[in-house]
Amino acid sequence: MGFDVTEILKQVACKYSQPEEVAEMNRVFMEGSGLLPVEQTLVGLYFPYPCRVLVIGCGVGRESVALAKQGYRVTGVDITKRLIAEARRNAISENANVTFLETDGHHLEMEERSFDLVVIFSQAVEHIPTSKARIELLKGVRNVLVPNGFLFITAHDRYHPTMSRLRPVFEVITESWAEEGDVFLSNVQGIESEGKAFMHYSKPDEMRTELAEAGFNVWQFARHSQLGGDPDLDRLFYMVCSSQSLESTL
Ligand SMILES: C[S@@+](CC[C@H](N)C(=O)[O-])C[C@H]1O[C@@H](n2cnc3c(N)ncnc32)[C@H](O)[C@@H]1O
Repeated sequence: MGFDVTEILKQVACKYSQPEEVAEMNRVFMEGSGLLPVEQTLVGLYFPYPCRVLVIGCGVGRESVALAKQGYRVTGVDITKRLIAEARRNAISENANVTFLETDGHHLEMEERSFDLVVIFSQAVEHIPTSKARIELLKGVRNVLVPNGFLFITAHDRYHPTMSRLRPVFEVITESWAEEGDVFLSNVQGIESEGKAFMHYSKPDEMRTELAEAGFNVWQFARHSQLGGDPDLDRLFYMVCSSQSLESTL
C-alpha cells in the first residue's frame, strides 16, 4: 500500500465499523461506569465546573455521556460514522445532552476558542499517521481551545516492558513511509474482527516534542498507576497540557 493519510484513516474507520467492534464498545458503554477511574481522577483534579469539553475519538460516547451527566457541556467527535450514530442513541437513552459530530480530529472545523478543555483519551491520536499530521491535529486542538485551555491526552510508551504483551496483535510497518513505532493492529479492543488499523505507538519524549511544536506546555505527566490504575497498564501514559496564550509563546 502506498502512503495516503486519508486512506489510512478510512481503514481505521472501517475497522471500528465492524459489527463486533461496535458491539464491544456498546457492551463497555452499557456495563461500565463511563469514565475509567484514572480518567475520573483527572476530572477531579483538573476539570473546572462548568466548562465546555471537546472529546476527540468519542466512540459510542463513553466519556462524553459520563461528562455530560456530570454537568459539562460536551461535544464528541469521531471519524467513524457508525459509532457516532450509536453515540447519539446512547446519549438519548441516558438522557444526556451531548452534541456528536462525524468529524476527523485531524481536520476540526469548529470555531476558534470554543472549548475550555479537549479530551483525547483512549489513544485516538495514535491512529493518525506521521508526526507531521499529529502535530497538525494538535495545532487544530490548540486553535479551538481558549488561551490557557487544557488538553488531556493519552498514548502508549512503545519502550515500556509490558508492550511485549501486545506483540501478537500488531505487525510493524516496514514500508518506506513508516516512522518508528508505526504498526498495523489486528485487534483494537481485545476482540477479533476484520481488517487492520494503523497505530503509532508513541513514547513520552516524542509526544512532548509534538505537543511543544503545536504550542502546548505539559503540566503533568503520569503513568497509569500514578493515577491509581493497574501497574500492568503502565505502558499507557497521560499528559495534562495547557495551550499557551499567544503572549507566553513570544
Ligand atoms: C480505542 S477507540 C476509543 C473510543 C472511546 N474514546 C472510548 O474509550 O470508548 C478510538 C476511537 O478513535 C476514533 N478515531 C480514530 N482516528 C480518529 C480521527 N482521526 N478523528 C476522530 N476520531 C478518530 C475511532 O473511530 C475510535 O472510535
